Amino acid sequence: DPAAADAAKRAAARAAVAMVQNGMRLGLGTGSTAVIMVRELAARAAAERLSLRCAATSVATADLATSLGLKVEPLDAIGHLDMTIDGADEIDPDLTLIKGGGGALLREKIVAAASERMVVIADGAKVVEQLGGFPLPVEVLAFGLASTQQHIDHLLARMDMADRPVMLRQRSGSPYRTDEGNLILDLELGAIPDPQALAAGLSAIPGVVEHGLFLCLADIALIGQPDGTVTLLE
Ligand code: A5P
Repeated sequence: DPAAADAAKRAAARAAVAMVQNGMRLGLGTGSTAVIMVRELAARAAAERLSLRCAATSVATADLATSLGLKVEPLDAIGHLDMTIDGADEIDPDLTLIKGGGGALLREKIVAAASERMVVIADGAKVVEQLGGFPLPVEVLAFGLASTQQHIDHLLARMDMADRPVMLRQRSGSPYRTDEGNLILDLELGAIPDPQALAAGLSAIPGVVEHGLFLCLADIALIGQPDGTVTLLE
């Protein structure tokens, strides 16, 4: 039910926006939950005349936030951030995340890593016991794609995940390009028994720019319910 999911996302987004304090330097996430959050944030900032400095995790979020009157600056112009608020595709009990369904994982990870705290906002459908039901996005350079993909296949075989489909993400008939001009491979793993080992293996492959496993980055997750209540995971 899309309306119920939307209400849940809004509840989580509102709870995160309530954590924002005047003068904060904020990272703004990407995706449908982040869009709701940016709208709520802009409304609160205007109503309370908050002075905020924001860095965006995608061109889409930068455009939206700017259009709503938020002050968006390059990450390097701000430097360190107090808090990043972002969505996720999956959240496990350790607060390890899969991100990148919206294609912004690279900038999202850089912004989260530049932040004192990362606050994840999501509806309950994103909370899982084990990651991997959602295909793991891996951002790769276009150069040497076939070779990079072969290394990924070998890694998966070594990790007892042989023959999992690895799909080149498409958009309207041609390969999807990220904000940085790279490609995305979606790894349909089904289950990821050892996220740390997989993350390390992927990071060691030349041509892999970044992967969508977020380890030790999220500090808390605010999980919204359709009735407007919010559960805190930490
Ligand atoms: C963007 O690249 C993703 O990491 C998003 O944060 C993730 O896909 C969540 O998006 P939704 O809020 O639309 O589910």
